[in-house]
Amino acid sequence: MAKGKLLLGLDIGSSSVKMCLLKDVRNTYEIDLIDREEIPSDAIVEGSILDRSSVSRKIRAMLARNKVRQKQCAIAISGYSVIVKRLRLANMSDEELAMSIKWEVEQHIPYDSNEVVYDTVVLGRSPQQNSMDILLVASKRDAVNDYISVAKDAGLDVKIVDVASFALQNMVETVYGEAGIGDCTGVINIGASVTSMTMMTDGVTAFTRDITIGGNQITEEIQKKLGITREEAENFKTGNVLEGGAMIPREVEDITCQVSEMIANEIKRSISFFYETTGRESIDRLLVCGGVVKNASTLRILEETLGENIVLANPFMNLSYNTRLYSPESLESLALESAVALGLALRRNVE
Ligand SMILES: Nc1ncnc2c1ncn2[C@@H]1O[C@H](COP(=O)(O)OP(=O)(O)OP(=O)(O)O)[C@@H](O)[C@H]1O
Ligand SMILES: [Mg+2]
Repeated sequence: MAKGKLLLGLDIGSSSVKMCLLKDVRNTYEIDLIDREEIPSDAIVEGSILDRSSVSRKIRAMLARNKVRQKQCAIAISGYSVIVKRLRLANMSDEELAMSIKWEVEQHIPYDSNEVVYDTVVLGRSPQQNSMDILLVASKRDAVNDYISVAKDAGLDVKIVDVASFALQNMVETVYGEAGIGDCTGVINIGASVTSMTMMTDGVTAFTRDITIGGNQITEEIQKKLGITREEAENFKTGNVLEGGAMIPREVEDITCQVSEMIANEIKRSISFFYETTGRESIDRLLVCGGVVKNASTLRILEETLGENIVLANPFMNLSYNTRLYSPESLESLALESAVALGLALRRNVE
């Protein structure tokens, strides 16, 4: 049976755009393209694309230098732009759900239902208890349209608008394999402005939440405390000091640790909520990714604060790759930031 062509995964992050294209090979995938390009820090702020042309120019440049022919893509929304709610409803057919969902949107989503786009995912049905669990996913129409437009301006054709946490789940399922019974796996992607968290039990979404904190908080605190520019603060934070440039001030490490603790505590609160609402007491495997966890101190603080079985996620694990273009080292340097892009690249055009 034809499965449909794999789409180009395009993750439009607020600090960089990532692009991934996979190829079907013998029941698995080969990485045909993986790339990232930084964007100006004021181009996407709080989930809103303020500078469309500079973002689309970066995407265009990446498409050109990689000679990408697949123009059909999947993008993701997250954080500021999306609301995901888990609801328990009376059991009903898909058709009945489609008819009644607008009412649920009016009840649960704090925007005018005419201004939002929404979709549902059925997690499970229990005819005995006459109940069903669904995820209601909603986003402001304008916000989604901005992301679609920026891809369009770069010459792409957006076939799927996914949610970042679902893309992360897809990545985990494919790369780490199907979950065993009772198995609970979590993924936390800490980006520049959004932290996406998602937990799966028995391979099904049990919890998902995006919080609007990330690496920007660390940069801003360094900038403020040291009275320096954002760019200097970012360079100090990431240890990117040009030869002959200034030494990294000692305070940078302290500030990084303080803000990382704040981030880790926020994540811990969400995990506690997950435990309270599901009765679980532990997570078997907690994968962490996103550019922020590249910092060894941040990672250590996450481990100490969360006390879970934390593993750095590697979305390229077990996948072959085009050896003319990539090496284990080049893939490793991109791995932590590419989880969402890889999850998006697993989507197919099913038209
Ligand atoms: N070595 C490092 N140490 C500390 N922070 C780092 C390091 N490398 C990258 N970062 C931070 O990681 C963040 C970028 O990560 P990522 O690419 O996952 O974010 P994004 O997808 O652009 O943002 P978002 O999804 O939140 O919009 C930035 O805040 C950057 O400063
Ligand atoms: Mg991101």
